[in-house]
Amino acid sequence: MIVAAGLTPAWQQIMRFARLQPGEVNRAREVHWCASGKNLNVGMALAALGANALALSPLGGWSGQAIAAEFRREGRQARWTASATPTRVCTTLLDEATGTATELVENSAPLTDAERAEFVAAYQEAAAAAEYIVLTGSLPHGTPATFYRDLLRQTRCPAVLDVRGPELLAALECRPRVVKPNREELAMTLGQPVADLRAAMRDLIRRGAQAVVITQGKAPVCVAEGDRFWQVAPPTVSPVVNPIGCGDCLAAGLAVGLQQGLTLVEAVRLGMAAAAENVTQLLPARLDPARVAAWAEQIVAH
Ligand SMILES: Nc1ncnc2c1ncn2[C@@H]1O[C@H](COP(=O)(O)OP(=O)(O)OP(=O)(O)O)[C@@H](O)[C@H]1O
Ligand SMILES: [Mg+2]
Repeated sequence: MIVAAGLTPAWQQIMRFARLQPGEVNRAREVHWCASGKNLNVGMALAALGANALALSPLGGWSGQAIAAEFRREGRQARWTASATPTRVCTTLLDEATGTATELVENSAPLTDAERAEFVAAYQEAAAAAEYIVLTGSLPHGTPATFYRDLLRQTRCPAVLDVRGPELLAALECRPRVVKPNREELAMTLGQPVADLRAAMRDLIRRGAQAVVITQGKAPVCVAEGDRFWQVAPPTVSPVVNPIGCGDCLAAGLAVGLQQGLTLVEAVRLGMAAAAENVTQLLPARLDPARVAAWAEQIVAH
C-alpha cells in the first residue's frame, strides 16, 4: 500500500471563464466542485495509476463531508480524522483567453492538539501497513515545523516528501528517499535565490535527502542522487487546461514507480507523464492510466 498523508485538504471549486477581468463582473462558463489539496490529489493520482492507495487527512464540517462523499462514491480508500473547523475551500479561476490559472487559497485552519494527536495515531497505523509513503503539503498555522520529521521517525518504509521550508529542513535528518520541492520552494527553503541549482540540490543531499527532484513547470526536471545528476524535459502539452496539481501527480507517479522497483529516473519519467496528463484535465489528479503511458513514451532523460 502507498499512503498519501498531509494536513491541508481542500474542497475545490474550479471556474472556467472565456476571459477573466479583475475588477469586473465575471460570469463563469463552467463550474465544478471536487476533492483536492495536496494529500488528496496525491491519493487520487496514486489510485488512478493502479496503486493500492490510502489518502490520510483530517476533514471537518460540510466541506469535509462533501470530500468524504466523493471518495466513497468513487470507491477510493481513505482514512479521515476529525477536525472541528470545516475543511477549507479553494478556488481555481481558469482564463481561456490567456490560458492562465489563478488560485484563490484559503489557509487550512489550525488543528487542536487532540485533532493532531488523532491524526498521528491514524498515521502510525497506516504507516505500519505501508510500503511507501508520500508526505505532502504545508502545515496549518500552529503545527510544529518538526511535524513531518516526527512522522518519519515512526516510519519504516521509504518516503517521498513534497514539502518545503523549515519542515523540509527538519525532516532531512530522517534521510527521506526523495524530496521534491519546486524551484521556488527550494529557494524559499534555503532562504536565498537559487543561482546554482546543482549546488542547491547537493546541499539538500548533504543535509540528509537520499535524492532530490526539482520541478520548474514546463522547464526540465532536475534529478540528483548521490553525486549524479539528470535532466528530464517534459513533453509539450497543448492546450494547457489546468496545471494545478501537476506536482502532486509527479509525486504520485514517482512513488508508484519506486514502489514497483523502477530506477529513480524511470520513476521520475512516470511522474512527469502523470503530470503531463494532469495538465490536459480540468479536474486535478483524475488521471487516465492509458494516456499517462502514452505521455511516458515521449519523455527522455539525459
Ligand atoms: N505546461 C506544462 N507542460 C508540461 N508539463 C508540465 C507543465 N506544467 C507542469 N508540468 C509537469 O508537472 C511537473 C510539476 O510542475 P510544477 O513545477 O509546476 O509543480 P508544482 O509547482 O509543485 O505544482 P503543484 O504544487 O501545483 O502541484 C513539471 O515538472 C512537469 O513535468
Ligand atoms: Mg508542488
